[in-house]
Amino acid sequence: MNVLITGASGLLGGRIAEQAESRGDLVFSGYLTHQPAFGYPTRMDIANMQSVSEAFRRARPDLVFHTAAITGVDRCERDRDLALQVNVEGTRSVAQAARDSGSYLVFLSSDYVFDGSRGLYKEEDARNPINFLGKTKALAEDAVKSSGARHLIVRTSFIFGSRASRAEENFALWAIRKLRSHAPFKVVVDQFITPTYDWNLVRMLFEAADRGIEGTLHLAGATRVSKYDFAFSIAKSFGLDWELMIPTSMGDVGWAARRPVDSSLDTSRARAILVNKPMELSESLRRLREEMRE
Ligand SMILES: NC(=O)c1ccc[n+]([C@@H]2O[C@H](COP(=O)([O-])OP(=O)(O)OC[C@H]3O[C@@H](n4cnc5c(N)ncnc54)[C@H](OP(=O)(O)O)[C@@H]3O)[C@@H](O)[C@H]2O)c1
Repeated sequence: MNVLITGASGLLGGRIAEQAESRGDLVFSGYLTHQPAFGYPTRMDIANMQSVSEAFRRARPDLVFHTAAITGVDRCERDRDLALQVNVEGTRSVAQAARDSGSYLVFLSSDYVFDGSRGLYKEEDARNPINFLGKTKALAEDAVKSSGARHLIVRTSFIFGSRASRAEENFALWAIRKLRSHAPFKVVVDQFITPTYDWNLVRMLFEAADRGIEGTLHLAGATRVSKYDFAFSIAKSFGLDWELMIPTSMGDVGWAARRPVDSSLDTSRARAILVNKPMELSESLRRLREEMRE
């Protein structure tokens, strides 16, 4: 099967490319600035329709994983034009190209489409983003829905794993580095998420894609925690000194963009229909530890 991945140089896209290659798919790894480690490097700027069409012409994909985005929450808030161009117009172009080439599209959206006032959001809950990243993801979902492409919109939350993306560390690697540095560091206690182990997400994504599931699906970890408790679980799991962690609140951090207080996702639909289930945090961390030991 021909698989095109946008953002294959990123944290999740890189894992998808690795998995697709190990399955024997013909993998076209889309990137903008950093050459991906797996698949055929396929340079494409999703903000440029011609560049998108050219990548589709070369890859002739049966399946497209669209993960490319401006993912920095504060960056989106500061550089709104770029966020609109890449996250919304870029997604519109990818969805139109998928429709025109008859490809099945899996689009990666975010828990930040919700306002975080309640938590444990289901697929059908009303979206109400409170930051610009969330707004662009909600608009991008609409662009995918109205494109006419056969599609699945996947909302996920707080991806972590053993590999950093080129742009930045993921939270687990950051916490492990901080805990190993033996210096005290602050972690927020009042933001709740459903941390998602990258390999768990990749397996669920491929199962959903292989079965051609359509609509919207929440694919995330099965455990809702505060960021502080996530870091605490990492410390416990890796045998590191949790007393270095200083509990702090979001208001004290000085971020440019607001974060939803509780954007945790309810993954019961995924649990009900998939063989590969959303994993509990303790199990995810056990696997991460094993993977990092190897
Ligand atoms: N990470 C999370 O916790 C999380 C949570 C919820 C949802 N998501 C969603 O999951 C997806 C993957 O996230 P991630 O953390 O893996 O992303 P990431 O590591 O930040 O990677 C972003 C990717 O987008 C590419 N990109 C940026 N601008 C582009 C453009 N104009 N044209 C083509 N490619 C472009 C980058 O390419 P270069 O590096 O080559 O420039 C990079 O490969 C995103 O859509 C994100 O919104 C992530």
